[in-house]
Amino acid sequence: MKTPIEVFSNWVDTGKDEGMEKNHFKPVMKMIDLYDIKTEFTCVDAGCGNGWLVEYLSKINNCKKAIGVDGSSKMIAKAKKYSDNEFYCSDLLKWKPKDKVDVVFSMEVFYYFKNPQILIKHIHDSWIKNDGKLIMGIDHYYENEECHEWKKKINVDTMELIKIEEWKNFFNKSGFKNVKEYQFFPNKKWKGTLVIEGSKI
Ligand SMILES: C[S@@+](CC[C@H](N)C(=O)[O-])C[C@H]1O[C@@H](n2cnc3c(N)ncnc32)[C@H](O)[C@@H]1O
Repeated sequence: MKTPIEVFSNWVDTGKDEGMEKNHFKPVMKMIDLYDIKTEFTCVDAGCGNGWLVEYLSKINNCKKAIGVDGSSKMIAKAKKYSDNEFYCSDLLKWKPKDKVDVVFSMEVFYYFKNPQILIKHIHDSWIKNDGKLIMGIDHYYENEECHEWKKKINVDTMELIKIEEWKNFFNKSGFKNVKEYQFFPNKKWKGTLVIEGSKI
């Protein structure tokens, strides 16, 4: 079995990373809709992969800074090749921005952590300004039975299968307020992308 970083570095080698923009685009646009982009903002994409979302965010009129962080040096090298924005190669648990930001987005990343609550608290305490938001999206969660075999298929050593209520608890226990959940684009057996947002008051 491989670590998540090894798996995704391999995706860069084979070009499979490029499918992520296509597959994640629609729910990620709904995640951006949850944030008020009518006023100036700074943001981080936590687990940014090849940087497609950082590039997209940086082109929004009121975006003053968009930063990407990912643990895979191959993902970050690819992001830097295609985008002039700020990128860092680091484990998310070991990184924090020089200046706190208004909003943190993250798509399909948090379940690759053994204890996601430690990461969510770290982001709450060290990444986000007061009045800022964390907006997380995941397709791999307990209620979405279609994803139950993914861990075996990908052959990855860490891929936690967690219930919606527990994800909300992680946000609440980390200090986030007004925690809300959404399931975007459900379809027959597919329960949709689970999106959780929380505000730092
Ligand atoms: C499914 S990909 C999603 C990438 C991107 N968010 C997207 O939607 O295209 C998961 C990403 O999380 C990164 N990742 C996994 N564990 C990490 C860790 N501990 N620290 C930093 N990045 C990590 C991987 O390298 C990979 O790029």
